[in-house]
Amino acid sequence: MKSKLNLGLLLVAFVCVLACGPKKENNETETADTTAVSNEPKEFGEADGKKVSLYTLKNSHGVEAHITNYGGIITSLMVPDKTGKLEDVVLGYDNLADYQKDSPYFGALIGRYGNRIAKGKFTLDGEEYTLAVNNGVNTLHGGKKGFDKVVWDAEKITTDEGEGLKLNYVSPDMEEGYPGELKVEVTYVLTDDNSLKIDYTATTDKKTIVNLTNHSYFNLTGGVKGDILGHEVMINADKFVPIDSTLIPEGQLESVDGTPFDFREPTAIGARIGEDNQQLTYGGGYDHCWVLNADGEGMTKAASVYEPKSGRLMEIFTTEPGLQFYSGNFLDGSLTGKGGVAYKYRWGIALETEHYPDSPNQPDFPSVELNPGETYHTSTTYKFSTK
Ligand code: GLA
Repeated sequence: MKSKLNLGLLLVAFVCVLACGPKKENNETETADTTAVSNEPKEFGEADGKKVSLYTLKNSHGVEAHITNYGGIITSLMVPDKTGKLEDVVLGYDNLADYQKDSPYFGALIGRYGNRIAKGKFTLDGEEYTLAVNNGVNTLHGGKKGFDKVVWDAEKITTDEGEGLKLNYVSPDMEEGYPGELKVEVTYVLTDDNSLKIDYTATTDKKTIVNLTNHSYFNLTGGVKGDILGHEVMINADKFVPIDSTLIPEGQLESVDGTPFDFREPTAIGARIGEDNQQLTYGGGYDHCWVLNADGEGMTKAASVYEPKSGRLMEIFTTEPGLQFYSGNFLDGSLTGKGGVAYKYRWGIALETEHYPDSPNQPDFPSVELNPGETYHTSTTYKFSTK
């Protein structure tokens, strides 16, 4: 009885210390709690009966990447301008419902096949496969429900280079018409030199095709303040992949020499986008794949984007042979993104590191085939600085 009473008194005293303690201590406790909580994944809703979370990666300069395991989407990326002001440089939505309702792949992981496959058909070892057609007469970015619309298993990781998020997805045999069970792992790591590194690996149990990428739309003004026509782009490519009116490659690679596709020297996107050029007409602006000047194995500098007002510079390094540069030609102000900003015509650019479009039907393009026993592995880094 006595010990029960003592226990009761102790409990009252403990509660009183918590509730009536000095204000400063209380504040300290709250701050500590908030910090602890903000490192945890936040609830972001539900899809396919699975819990969806929002994860935060941070580095010592205050740079933050927010990533959800729905579609592996980078929902925001806070990087400094030349005065040190941290602002968001990617397009996206505030909530999961908007991503589910209508998103032109904002920030998402794309698979199994980034870019277009002509008429949704390809042949492997004499067997023809048919995919869902979701872009005019062609298949785009994996089909009706690509990797951008599935819930990935997610695990926050700590690496030597910085905080990371490991995402896993097992795509069943014949999902969206692609053969083989494909086990995919994508790792995002935010490093202390303000780089977001993305590593993609995949294995299959049957011969298949794979071409993974990320479809972030960048706008380096910070907070998406206007169009991207003043952004200066450099693409390390002597050639590009000409397309037909359905944006499918014709097969040959062409020199960028003397064309509006020559970005070997940094050039404003708006400088030549209005030129009378059949390729620009087909793309509705830039929506083409560049053949990167890769110097063998390993990472190559693919491109850079500089926004003069903010001073933000983004450099892209990749192991991939191609870069699809899309100048946001289908944005028309009808989608309202984060903070109520309507994303208008050419207010964001996508720079997708990948193999060339329609490679499964183009024998002269680098192969996108993956066999059992092999591991698909590609890496891309988006590095931010100012000048
Ligand atoms: C890709 C394509 C574009 C467009 C966007 C999404 O980048 O190449 O044509 O479909 O995705 O709107």
